[in-house]
Amino acid sequence: MKKNSWEKKALVLWILTLFCSTILMPVSQAESKIEYPLPSPLLVDMIVEESMFRRMSVREFTNETVTDEELSTILWAACGYQTDGGRTIVGINQIYAGIIYVLKEDAAYTYNPVNHSLVFFKEGDWRDIVGWQYKAPIQLGLCYDTNKADALLGGAELGQIGQNIQFMANALDLGTVVCGQMPPAIDPLGIPENEEGLVVMPLGHLAHPYNFKNRPFWISLLPRIQISSLSLSKTLDNLSEGTSFAGTLTKHEVSQVLWSTYGFSSYIDRSEQEKNTVKRHRTVPSAHGYYPLRMYPVTKQGIFYYQPNLFIKFQKVPVDFLGLPILTFLVKKISGDHRFEVAEAASHPLAASAPLIILIVLDLEMTRPTGKDDLSDEIYRRFWYYEAGASAHNVLLEATSWNLSASIISPTNALAIQSLLQLDENFFPLFIIPVGR
Ligand SMILES: Cc1cc2nc3c(=O)[nH]c(=O)nc-3n(C[C@H](O)[C@H](O)[C@H](O)COP(=O)(O)O)c2cc1C
Repeated sequence: MKKNSWEKKALVLWILTLFCSTILMPVSQAESKIEYPLPSPLLVDMIVEESMFRRMSVREFTNETVTDEELSTILWAACGYQTDGGRTIVGINQIYAGIIYVLKEDAAYTYNPVNHSLVFFKEGDWRDIVGWQYKAPIQLGLCYDTNKADALLGGAELGQIGQNIQFMANALDLGTVVCGQMPPAIDPLGIPENEEGLVVMPLGHLAHPYNFKNRPFWISLLPRIQISSLSLSKTLDNLSEGTSFAGTLTKHEVSQVLWSTYGFSSYIDRSEQEKNTVKRHRTVPSAHGYYPLRMYPVTKQGIFYYQPNLFIKFQKVPVDFLGLPILTFLVKKISGDHRFEVAEAASHPLAASAPLIILIVLDLEMTRPTGKDDLSDEIYRRFWYYEAGASAHNVLLEATSWNLSASIISPTNALAIQSLLQLDENFFPLFIIPVGR
């Protein structure tokens, strides 16, 4: 009898505790568990190089809604799970710190790649507050988890995610632009303390439709860029990081992967966007169009400098507003086989056997052109890492579509690379990309 009454008391106490904890739980926390499954992503058959030719920033949108299928396809491309369980990006050092906030008319959500769903975050229309730069039916807030990555490597991973968003949006006849700000534009949304925003990407239908003309005007000993046979969806579904890099590469393969890092499109943009006057876009976006990265291919024969287009070199900002010819080439900087030293600086012995290693180096001088905004301060370094992550990701896409093997490695001894390239302290080696078979 005594035992029975004790049990009853315990039951009442348990029910009371449960009741109080539900009542007192903040609404957002209670609702944050609500998950909305997304439809299956669409299969997009645009070939991956075509996506790179068509990459451009779009800043003016119509009110037409983005369908759930389109949103699902873009989020899957961004960082979703492949059919075999891998991811559509390789992350940096196999760490995935990226978080995507999806701001819709009714509320803010986060993308859950595991369940391919939207998770409720906060009620209300946050689009014009967070995405104040350009009005659009959806705004994507790209953030990183500060417990998993710092601003630099977090930025580089978001560069991979942002590339996939821009390519897939374009393939679906939608548009977007990378908007980077410090302090982060997403701050008013009140994201958790361990998360930090980096860029916001408005997403919608174009006010001025895409209109590209194929005008390669390729002046080079490097082979012309070819279109592979793999679609963007298939490439993303197959993308992976290689572990061994051997064999040799053809001239055409070298040309393809180098071009993907920083090259100019074969297409001329005739869309007459009011807020984008660039005529020949490049394979990656760049904050303020500064394009401050240098690509150094390292082979058995020596260390080279990749010139994406000499005609642009002498402009204050290396952006093509005219639709100039593409005068692209390699300049030998240092003779001899230095791949072993590079592999040592990467703490990655297998990289020494790669027929090609691409060194991505930040030229700080290019981030402070005279008479323009100075973006050389350390606080902005994350944006240049974003760009380097985007370039490195393009190499992985090209490697996938041409059946090659590539990897993204952050240098463990950046000073060794700096001195090998005979560069001063204004140059920062950001990534080492071995490419092989
Ligand atoms: C990290 C980063 C931040 C950027 N921030 C902005 C921005 O705040 N606003 C904007 O309109 N464009 C922004 N851009 C886009 C660049 O201005 C654009 O890529 C460049 O002008 C080249 O034009 P295109 O992308 O059309 O080829 C950014 C790009 C990057 C990579």
